[in-house]
Order: sequence, then structure tokens, then C-alpha cells
Amino acid sequence: MNKTLLIATTNQGKVREISEELKDIDLEIKTLKDYPEILPPEETGNTFFENALLKAKYYAEKTGLLTLADDSGLEVEALDGKPGIYSSRFAGEMASDEENIKKLLELMKDIPEHKREAQFICVMVCYHPSGKYIYSEGIWEGKIAQSPRGDRGFGYDPVFLVKELNYQKTAAELEMEIKNKLSHRGKALKALKEKLPEFLKTL
Ligand code: IMP
Repeated sequence: MNKTLLIATTNQGKVREISEELKDIDLEIKTLKDYPEILPPEETGNTFFENALLKAKYYAEKTGLLTLADDSGLEVEALDGKPGIYSSRFAGEMASDEENIKKLLELMKDIPEHKREAQFICVMVCYHPSGKYIYSEGIWEGKIAQSPRGDRGFGYDPVFLVKELNYQKTAAELEMEIKNKLSHRGKALKALKEKLPEFLKTL
């Protein structure tokens, strides 16, 4: 039987990436663009998992649909894991990517090369209105650059030096296809896809 999956985002880049990865699974895809009347919940969780679960549960209960939500952010070792769940609002509630990057580089200006390790984390939750859910996590390791480079991607991409490329390129210098293969979101998505067929059988 064909099931519907709500991807709880309005970001068309994420929608494309997720639908492409899940295309072999028999699911009709909907997004929050199909439900403009539903206001977003407050992200009050203390962890990426709590926020992803809170969002998936909220939209599943509002729409009655199986719902996939994610939460992600950057953790910097030398800053005790900051900005973490506050990544998008690091420099203030309505901060731009540029302002967040500026604050990060300012805080790290005296931190030497070998202590600039960081990781992107992504947690995905797929939640059914019955209360059953599965989740997955993806991690992408790197280092924080001294200054921004590259004009692709979003968020902290211009200052994230990619470990797989020997820290020679930032995430903002990668083709989207390559970023999707390496990234925290890509890894979480693959892990979720592996669990999904079994989960769908239990619903
Ligand atoms: P969200 O979970 O997609 O809303 O992401 C939260 C915040 O984490 C974003 O606003 C970015 O600041 C940061 N972030 C998450 N994923 C990425 C990424 O792939 N590249 C750069 N920044 C990211």
C-alpha cells in the first residue's frame, strides 16, 4: 500500500535531497508547502534529537501523516560544543549566516590550527501519529578555517574545512552532489533509509 510521507521543511534544497534518496521506497511525498496554515513549533529541546523529535511529532499530530523532521548544527570542540543547537541563532535571534560566522571567527581568533576541530551533526526522526518512530544520526568532521572561502552551500559552510579533503577545501567550495555524499545530513538520511522499509511494515 502506498503511504504518504510529510517532509517537515520548506527548504526546497532539503526536499530535493531527501526525495531523491528515498525515491526507491513507495511513498507519496508532501512538504510543509502543502500545509501553509500550520505554524512552526518552538524548538525548546536541549539536544538535536529532542528538537527533531519535537518537530516530527508536532507535524505528524497536526496532519495525521508519517512525518520526517531533522535538526542539525555545528559543534566546535574548543568552544565546548558551541554553537550546537543554537547554530542558526548564534549571533542573535534573527542573525544572518554572515553574522554567525563573524561571531564564531571572533571567538576563535586565538585558537591555533591544531585545536580548531569541529563537527556538523544531523539527527533525523521519522514519526508516525500512532507514536511509533525511528531516528538516525550523521556526523561530518572538519576544522574551522581562519576566514571564509567559497560561495556554495549555506550556514557555516564557508568556514568548515572538510576532513575528507585534508582540510584543503571548505564545504562552500564543494559541488552539491559531493557535499550531499559527505555531509552529516547525507549520512543521517542514508541511515534512516536503511531502517525505513522495516519500520513501514510495522505501521
Ligand atoms: P537546520 O537544522 O537545518 O535548521 O540547521 C540549523 C543551523 O545549523 C543552520 O542554520 C546552520 O547555521 C547550521 N547548519 C546545519 N547544517 C549545515 C550545513 O550543512 N552547512 C552549514 N551550516 C549548517
